Amino acid sequence: MSGGKTPILTGARLETVFCELVKELRAFILSHDVSYDEYHQALGFLAEVGAAGELPLLLDVFLETMVDEVNNGRKPGTASCLEGPFYVPAAPLIRRPYALPQRENEPGEILLFSGAVRSADGRPLAGAMLDLWQADATGAYSQFNYPEPRYNLRGRLQTNEEGRFHVRTVVPAGYEIPKAGPTGKLLAALGRHAFRPAHLHVKVSHEGFGQLTTQLYIAGDPWIDSDVVGAVKPSLVTRLTRHDSPADLEAHGLKRPYFALDYDFSLAPLAA
Ligand code: BEZ
Ligand code: FE
Repeated sequence: MSGGKTPILTGARLETVFCELVKELRAFILSHDVSYDEYHQALGFLAEVGAAGELPLLLDVFLETMVDEVNNGRKPGTASCLEGPFYVPAAPLIRRPYALPQRENEPGEILLFSGAVRSADGRPLAGAMLDLWQADATGAYSQFNYPEPRYNLRGRLQTNEEGRFHVRTVVPAGYEIPKAGPTGKLLAALGRHAFRPAHLHVKVSHEGFGQLTTQLYIAGDPWIDSDVVGAVKPSLVTRLTRHDSPADLEAHGLKRPYFALDYDFSLAPLAA
């Protein structure tokens, strides 16, 4: 990492993390009789992962749920879920009539996502910030799977005075880890599929509260019970309801059927 912009650990924590990791890996090599051939394969694989820019993907697939658990698993409020590799900071702040940025003919079904943000003891939080990002209806993320518009299906919005929000977007599709890259090839070699169930990502924050990073899933999704990352939590599985009555369409100024999702978030207080 030297010369890079990521700070590295120092002192006792570096000693603990690095030395303990090396100790575990050395013990692993001994107890599993790792051959030179396997050692060289591991080196080649990691070099390929780095060259393909897939280090965040690889680590997030296999390890991030544990980091999330250690850091957030015991907090009250809405369950957390991993951030994953596709978050981009500073998405546009969106205002009335709240809709995530979309291409002119954005594919997919309309999704009206609404809900409230409250404190863990039930107080509505006005002015809470929701930072949303998601795959499109083909499972693709802007900036990672397609270049423009840069902030497609990414945006930030604030709750109103009652702590409520609503935003128009599209129903996301499940995400498949690219088969051509080293992470996808590894999953194939393991005989595993490479899908995540469809999900909406959100970071929810408010002054005086810890930031919640989580994901919402959709009941009935074909990959809900076999997420390649193993991140689905029952309390984050939501139901979409389909609306096609003329009265409902008119109420929202829509010309085609839409899906609605209502979900309330609850934020843990800042850690003391
Ligand atoms: C995601 O949430 O989109 C994701 C998480 C881990 C690996 C790949 C994708
Ligand atoms: Fe995702």
